[in-house]
Amino acid sequence: MSVRTSIAKITTISILLGFFSGAAIAAGDVAAGQAQAVTCAACHGQDGATAIDPTYPNLAGQNEVYLTRQLQMFQSGERDVALMSAQLIGKSAEDLADLGAYYASLPAKHSDAQGSDDDIKAAEAIYKGGIIAKGVAACSSCHGPNGAGNAQAGFPAISGQSVGYTIVQLTDYRESRRGTNDAYGSMMRGVASGLSDGQIALLADYISGLH
Ligand code: HEC
Ligand code: HEC
Repeated sequence: MSVRTSIAKITTISILLGFFSGAAIAAGDVAAGQAQAVTCAACHGQDGATAIDPTYPNLAGQNEVYLTRQLQMFQSGERDVALMSAQLIGKSAEDLADLGAYYASLPAKHSDAQGSDDDIKAAEAIYKGGIIAKGVAACSSCHGPNGAGNAQAGFPAISGQSVGYTIVQLTDYRESRRGTNDAYGSMMRGVASGLSDGQIALLADYISGLH
């Protein structure tokens, strides 16, 4: 199978998957989510975007389908992070949907990329065009030209995200360390497997400044 065919295939699969899984997650209640979020603020910040550690993710403005699915996967252990799973003990499916709705309702954070013009240009080329020779699909095809993601498909917003967090996640996908459901996870594993450490660092900085 040629690289071009495999990229076309990934895109088709991703559109189909987004269509089905988006529909499978019920909409949550923002006020009920806010009431539960007091404990979450201890690590993710009062506004969902000022975490206590620079490698912890911003949640504010992330889409609801993605957030709720990640919470489900932390709870089930599919995304195996003890720190997060411990926060979700005893929570119902509705509780998780409410938390997803609450964080999706908060305004997203913006920041600026720190890299040189050359670094930003190199990252932008990958972001918008992929790396054909390595089978890396353009990030923009799923995460959008400004990194806003695709709310309906549940593809995450990645713009304005903490640089340290993005580096860890891209590396973990590449090394198959980030657990996720097969359908969604294999999309990012395929993409990340063609990225070097240097390219991941450039992309993480570039993405942090997208908006
Ligand atoms: C003790 C600190 C801590 C607390 C408290 C905490 N989190 Fe987290 N959270 C983390 C860390 C660390 C990660 C990143 C995990 C990783 O490395 O994949 C994370 C990741 C997440 C993610 C995934 C974000 C993404 O972009 O994929 C969501 C969603 C989330 N947390 C929601 C919550 C909610 C809702 C609560 C409250 C019920 C909560 N967190 C409480 C530390 C915490
Ligand atoms: C075929 C669609 C697709 C392409 C192309 C794609 N992504 Fe993704 N990306 C996804 C999906 C779906 C997820 C969520 C996967 C999961 O549930 O673990 C994701 C997750 C991520 C995350 C984790 C977000 C978080 O909050 O934890 C980052 C970072 C990311 N992608 C960056 C990129 C970069 C950089 C590129 C380009 C080199 C890229 N993606 C290309 C679909 C895609």
